[in-house]
Amino acid sequence: MNHDKIAVVDFGGQFCHLIATKIRKLEVLAEIKDPNDPLESFLEYKGIVLSGSPALASAGEGSQFTEGLIDLPLPVIGFCFGHQEIAKHYGGQVEFTAREYGYAKLHIHQQAEIFHGLGPEEQVWMSHGDSVTRLGEGFIELASSTIGDDREPHRNAAIAHPGLKRYGFQYHPEVDDTVHGSEMLANFVFRICGCRPTWKIDDYVAEQVEAIRREVGDRSVFLLASGGVDSTVTARLIDRALGASRLQLLHIDNGLMRKGESRRVVDRFREYGMGDNLHFIDASETFLQALAGVTEPERKRQIIGTTFIDVFNSEAQRLDLEGFMLGQGTIYPDTIETGGTKHADVIKTHHNRVDVVEQMIAQGKVIEPLRELYKSEVRELGKQLEISDDLLYRHPFPGPGLGIRVLCAAEGEPEGYDPEGAGARLTPILEPAGLEGMLLPIRSVGVKADLRSYEFPVLLHGRGAEWQTLTTLTGRICQEVPGVNRGIYNLLDEIPVEAKVQPGGITRARLDLLRELDQLVMDGLRRHGLMADIWQCPTVLVPLEINGMGRELVVLRPILSERGMTAAPAPLPEALLDELRQAVQDFPDVSGLAIDVTSKPPSTIEWE
Ligand code: XMP
Repeated sequence: MNHDKIAVVDFGGQFCHLIATKIRKLEVLAEIKDPNDPLESFLEYKGIVLSGSPALASAGEGSQFTEGLIDLPLPVIGFCFGHQEIAKHYGGQVEFTAREYGYAKLHIHQQAEIFHGLGPEEQVWMSHGDSVTRLGEGFIELASSTIGDDREPHRNAAIAHPGLKRYGFQYHPEVDDTVHGSEMLANFVFRICGCRPTWKIDDYVAEQVEAIRREVGDRSVFLLASGGVDSTVTARLIDRALGASRLQLLHIDNGLMRKGESRRVVDRFREYGMGDNLHFIDASETFLQALAGVTEPERKRQIIGTTFIDVFNSEAQRLDLEGFMLGQGTIYPDTIETGGTKHADVIKTHHNRVDVVEQMIAQGKVIEPLRELYKSEVRELGKQLEISDDLLYRHPFPGPGLGIRVLCAAEGEPEGYDPEGAGARLTPILEPAGLEGMLLPIRSVGVKADLRSYEFPVLLHGRGAEWQTLTTLTGRICQEVPGVNRGIYNLLDEIPVEAKVQPGGITRARLDLLRELDQLVMDGLRRHGLMADIWQCPTVLVPLEINGMGRELVVLRPILSERGMTAAPAPLPEALLDELRQAVQDFPDVSGLAIDVTSKPPSTIEWE
């Protein structure tokens, strides 16, 4: 069926995906578009949303988007940066004013369709420095805003040109802190754009069954099945569309899985009645050889993704599966995060988006029925396909597996490592809180102002520090100390005074060590009833000798998140930390234990 669709233009704002998710919850299909996509490609939509951006509209940054986009004969609404771009486009003025950040009160002066059903005052959420200070012809101010005990309201918090169907909100209706944000989005989508609510996940199974049959034709599918949520849902869906005789599954043990995971995956597919078509191959040696001595994270990711396809092709050949399509459980953020929109920086290449896969997609040889869905939608779909909650609500596990949790280092001191320079900046920030900090000679990936960073972590030390202090100071450090994108807190008694890098790549011994430690952490979370509260908890091996001892610093990375695009570090209970402190003593290679206290951004969840 043809769904009415809304285009969400991604100017690089953090909440862009949230806009699309919130609109989809209204049962209208929203798709992320690049600001430079061709003008004609927008004509299939019923309305356009311009997202926020880290760029400053007052300085003319980020304004190079497809000419004519704002003039299209479609309703257009903008939030924050998008709102300012609309104002500018029609002759208004945008200037850098005071920063407004956090909860604000919206005072609606002018009734309008976009505020249908809302009261005269609404709680909204703001994060901006630029403001619209003058309106172009035909525009009206619908609302102003105040924060705290502001006397003077901030003008033009919501603006409109009802005749042209142009709207702008300075605040973010897509975040939950804007209490009636969903109602405002609904007013735009239904009352202004006239969309029909047909994007129902209940109908998605039937629709996809049809689509898969059309796309595959008389071919069959050979599906890469890691056994996680996405590939399991994909397998069930294709099984329903084509029947077991035209679906073969391949589970590859790449040597980067959790302890005992491949065994469990095979058992699970058997339980779901797909055991007969499941092929299993232990390719751990192939992966380890391909990764030997490689230290750079993006290279590791490329190698893992490419090796998956090499193993897939040789298995297809061995099984004589000529003319099969490659099936993958790719979901929407996999594409977008690998730089799926031209505007987005490549933060991390997902394993299912390496070059060889892109080439196969261009040749029509790949089927990915979940490629338009967010994780929450995949879970909904999984429920309909009778997959147990146990699997559907598991912690996400990345495609490259433990390969991106075993950090690797080249010989010698890394380029740009300047512990003295950093120390001089760290001391004034940390000393007042009774903390010390040491710059570590190893880099991890982060995301700053929507761009990839590859910088150094700081190891913080100080007995009994408050969680809030640690996270706040780490936020400050990442902003104020150049070259730092992460903070971790020492959980052992000994004061770390010297950290020496241990050069080398991924080895089976290191992976085995991480498997044991990861299992200890997961069992601990289960014992303390924390599996559902913590969104994900990677354990990371950092190749550092500390104070002349051991060779692997173990970092715990418990986080709270909704969809992994942003995340907050989560504290763990002292009792669990005590158990882990005890447990790591049994591993002579372990040089230390620390917990990551950085949010995303500026760091990312995984270290690579
Ligand atoms: P980052 O580290 O970018 O991760 O903050 C966000 C979420 O994505 C997961 N992740 C991946 N998942 N293939 C995947 O299927 C990948 O290549 C990949 N890299 C990161 C990560 O575990 C977190 O949940």
